[in-house]
Amino acid sequence: MDKILVATTNKGKLKEFRQLLSPLGIQVLSLEDMKQKIDVEEDRETFLENALKKAKTYGDFYKIPVIAEDAGLEVEALDGYPGVYSARFYGIDFGGKEPVKEDKDKANIDKLLRLLKGKKNRKARFVSVVVFYKPEDFGIWTEGYCYGYITEQPRGDRGFGYDPVFIPEGYSKTMAELQPEEKNKISHRGKAVKKLLKKLEKLYSTENPDLQGLDRTGQQI
Ligand code: IMP
Repeated sequence: MDKILVATTNKGKLKEFRQLLSPLGIQVLSLEDMKQKIDVEEDRETFLENALKKAKTYGDFYKIPVIAEDAGLEVEALDGYPGVYSARFYGIDFGGKEPVKEDKDKANIDKLLRLLKGKKNRKARFVSVVVFYKPEDFGIWTEGYCYGYITEQPRGDRGFGYDPVFIPEGYSKTMAELQPEEKNKISHRGKAVKKLLKKLEKLYSTENPDLQGLDRTGQQI
């Protein structure tokens, strides 16, 4: 394997994946690098189904190994919303739609803070489900969580999405105030990718042929 496609156009996500996948020492492509474009709608009810749909569709089309992720924020006081709707929370019919004045991230945050106004329970978690798919061979998936709290006001200008309003447990800074390396160490995506790299290491290890078989059957999708 000398190339891998990270199936995203989200620049913030891609930057994090590039850092997290650097131990593989292979070329990391994104959807921007692919000449022929195809559109895959994230219309499933779970993170895993969306990530799997993206991985399989892009992998079968471009015929190279793909990493696809579906991620989002789950807020306890909102019954787990925005969840799989995190990227387009501003526009969905839950607690009223939010106009996009500057950008979608800002509209999502405005809606979240509006819905949580006056609420004591600010508990939330980020979820990341990552699927690795090697066309006509196998697929594996992992998940990672980062638990924390939603702030009253946005703070910080790093990261992307809901980072300015999320404080990880045990921290006083928001995700958007952390250095990228710090975020990668504790983030949902960082944890999911670390698990994935471990599984891939076992699968590709020539010293452990037995483990290859075990992992393939145990984690095949
Ligand atoms: P998708 O996985 O590309 O469908 O988008 C997930 C959405 O969840 C993003 O657009 C963000 O709004 C949010 N999200 C996912 N991961 C993060 C993160 O690490 N920080 C902040 N927001 C995130």
